[in-house]
Formats: sequence, C-alpha cells, structure tokens
Amino acid sequence: MRIIRARDAADASRKTANIISAQVILKPDCVLGLATGSSPIDTYRQLIRWYEKGDLDFAKTRTVNLDEYVGLSPDHPQSYAYFMNTNFFDHINIDKANTHLPNGLDADAEHQCSNYDALIRGLGGVDLQLLGIGNNGHIGFNEPDEAFIKGTHCVDLTENTIQANSRFFESIDEVPRQAYTMGILDIVQAKRVVMIVTGAHKAQILKDAFEGPVTPKVPASIMQLHPDFTLVADEAALSLMENLG
Ligand code: GLP
Repeated sequence: MRIIRARDAADASRKTANIISAQVILKPDCVLGLATGSSPIDTYRQLIRWYEKGDLDFAKTRTVNLDEYVGLSPDHPQSYAYFMNTNFFDHINIDKANTHLPNGLDADAEHQCSNYDALIRGLGGVDLQLLGIGNNGHIGFNEPDEAFIKGTHCVDLTENTIQANSRFFESIDEVPRQAYTMGILDIVQAKRVVMIVTGAHKAQILKDAFEGPVTPKVPASIMQLHPDFTLVADEAALSLMENLG
C-alpha cells in the first residue's frame, strides 16, 4: 500500500481529487466507485471547481456508489442518492443515467443485491474506487463481522454506525437500521482504490486497519492486500501510525 501524507483535511481532499481527476483524464469513460460520508465532500467540491474551469469532462464517466440505506427513496434528503446528486452530480456534466446506487426502495434484498453485482460486472468493473472509513473500520457498510462478505448484501447496521450517522438525521430513531452495500470482493476487485481519512478521531482505527492483522473484525484491513491501494490521510489521522513507509 502507498501512504500519501497530507498536511490537513483540505490538502488531503485536494490530493484525492487530483488522483480522481487523473483517472478521468486518462480514461474519460472510466467507472468511478464513489463514497458518501463527510470525508469525500471536499474532494467532490474540488472536482466541481476543476470541471467549472474546463479542466475536467465527465460526459462519458460512469459511477457506482458503495451503498444506500434500505427504505429511503432517492429524493429523501438523507439518502445517499440525494447526497451524491447535491454534493456532486448536479454540479458536473455527468449523464445521470450513468450514475448508479443500490435501490433502497427495493424490498427484495436478494434481487437488489444480485442486480447490483451484475450491474458492476456489466460495466466492466470499477477502475477507481474511492473509500472513507467508519469509526469501527467499516468500508461502504461492510460492518465488523466473523467473515468477509463477498458480494453486495443487505447489512444490519451496528449501534456504533447508527450512532455515528445519526448526526445527519433529526433523531436517532430516523436512522435506517439496514443498508445495501457492495461486498468486500466488489471493493477489492476495483483496479485501483483510494481511501481518504482525516482527523484525530480516525487515528486509532487507521492504526488498527493498516498496522494490525487483516481481519473481518476490521473490514478496511483487507485493503492491505490490494495491489494498488493508496491511503491519503492527514497528519492527525496518521498520528498513531508507526510505519509510514
Ligand atoms: C458511512 C458510509 C461510509 C463512510 C463512513 C465514514 O457509514 N457508508 O462509506 O466511509 O460513513 O463517514 P465519515 O467520512 O463521515 O466519517
């Protein structure tokens, strides 16, 4: 794995945006795997600025998102579809028909999950996957578990995740208890993976994930084995890491 050390969150976002922009310039019809959460928001803002300056063209770009809450419609303000539209897609020239997320309204989990895996395969796989990391080491919504789950699946969110994500909802009772998420194999099969992590509150989980053993109890740790994995993190997030390569 490669570690790119950033000064602060703004620097990490700019560096991550640079990596994504290089991918879009090199392969305009690439498949970007995208993430939600607070961590990538400034990366999307930077990409929008470069698009507005005429430096980037997303006309042919395809996207697949990691996850979506079960039960939320795309126009629900806390859905990940809404997040992606308002934070990124509405501000660039991407064709919305080329943007994909699991359908949170599909009550048939088996159907939705096998469809999403087939969709990713049909697109030819992910060229570059962007990731954040949850406080408990989750990637997408792959929660700590006894085994790595390979394909897209319906997950029961842990209390830790429900608590962490309640900051976006009016009350904790409104946080959905389940989500559809790409599986670990879907993520690992991306040709290149970039993870952005910032802030001292992520320092311990970053150390556990990348200086500890590869274990499904810390799902992000699997990325240690990926042949083209880049961690972009700021000084605060890296403060407990001993081996910075
Ligand atoms: C959510 C998302 C993850 C994201 C995580 C961390 O649970 N499903 O993809 O990485 O939150 O979010 P944040 O960047 O806000 O810390």
